[in-house]
Amino acid sequence: MKSYNILLLGSGGRENAIAWKLRQSKKCKELYIAPGNAGTAEYGTNLPMAVTDFESIRSFCLENHIDMVIPGGEDALVAGIFDFFRNDSSLRDIIVAGPSKAGAQLEGSKAFAKEFMKRQGIPTAAYREFDEKNFEEGIQYISRHTLPVVIKADGLAAGKGVVISHNHEEAVESFSRMIKDAQFGDAGKKVVIEEFLEGIELSVFVLTDGRHYVLLPEAKDYKRIGEGDKGPNTGGMGAISPVPFAKEDFMGKVKSQIIHPTIEGLKKEKIDYNGFIFFGLINVGGDPYVIEYNCRMGDPETEVVMPRLKSDLLEMIEAMSAGQLANFAVEHDQRAACTVMLVSAGYPDAYEKGKVMTGLDAVENSLLFHAGTIVRNHEVQTNGGRVLAITSYGSGLQEALARSYENAARIQFEGKYFRTDIGWEFPGQ
Ligand code: AMP
Ligand code: GLY
Repeated sequence: MKSYNILLLGSGGRENAIAWKLRQSKKCKELYIAPGNAGTAEYGTNLPMAVTDFESIRSFCLENHIDMVIPGGEDALVAGIFDFFRNDSSLRDIIVAGPSKAGAQLEGSKAFAKEFMKRQGIPTAAYREFDEKNFEEGIQYISRHTLPVVIKADGLAAGKGVVISHNHEEAVESFSRMIKDAQFGDAGKKVVIEEFLEGIELSVFVLTDGRHYVLLPEAKDYKRIGEGDKGPNTGGMGAISPVPFAKEDFMGKVKSQIIHPTIEGLKKEKIDYNGFIFFGLINVGGDPYVIEYNCRMGDPETEVVMPRLKSDLLEMIEAMSAGQLANFAVEHDQRAACTVMLVSAGYPDAYEKGKVMTGLDAVENSLLFHAGTIVRNHEVQTNGGRVLAITSYGSGLQEALARSYENAARIQFEGKYFRTDIGWEFPGQ
């Protein structure tokens, strides 16, 4: 039996959940996480290495006989880690579970993603693309657009590049700040203006080898800081899986109208893609539309998706790299799972770090996935805005949520905040 030395890149709750899952595989030999957090250290060895420091990653992989690299987030992928490995004869045989730089453009450039969907006939909001050259035309276009109107910086903007505007002046100002004032630097030099879609969002994930794919459990995340989905966007305050409306009929449409044409499109356009695709979808009156693509798993969705994935993740990635996904029978856990994120006071704006955490040992019937934590002076301390994901199983969503909330009360740190209404749209489920 082949076993693998693995390097996992990232430091969030997502990477903690992936590390937890990989550790359960008989085929996992050594597991390293760069840079990792206090939670990932339970499953492997943390390394003080930046995810885009490809030269250090290269040396580490060669010295430690790494067989597989798993980039958790988009940064290394958009920066071209897949191509970096493929173009280096000493790294070529190492599996990189992620798309090429070209494939990562599905997330790295919203204009690229929109053009791709248009070419492949994939349902998405109607849009136009503008830059410095047709700036004036952009202003005219926005001024005549129905409200609300959605303004998106083309490139990666740490989740802050999307503005949903309810009046024309404000929309023009946001547009102008992106293009004329370089609010997001190069990421905002190009801007996508699109129609606002009304509906309920969900996240669908596949692992693909560019020809075939396996479907992972779907999830729904809760992005706003405040209860009732109010207030500013965050990295995610909680997640649930399954999503009650994602039944066979709806998922059938997702497969035939979105997943299948996306993978066929990648193949037709000769874009190398060996990794996860995260479809950010919206259900508009029973029909799925793509809001965005991501070239990686979601956070905090991974904190419910990995617990609901019964199959061996490492074997799945092994099958992907061997082009054998067509024969891989993926199994999902029938139980529901939820995760509730504990965050620092002030997040998503300024917040303090270094708060001592207590009560972690008192947790019962939940899994803890650390997001922003660090071990200092033999204590676990907060080290980020999103601190800890508390994941639980239940026969239904509400049972799972009750377990996570019981444990949220047991964990203490100064300034602890969490939403108490995760799963609010699905009472009685
Ligand atoms: P994105 O960075 O593309 O994920 O956008 C951030 C959030 O803005 C999404 O999760 C949606 O909630 C919202 N959003 C983006 N585009 C649209 C749209 N066309 N219609 C409605 N909501 C949108
Ligand atoms: N939860 C949304 C994301 O990971 O982008």
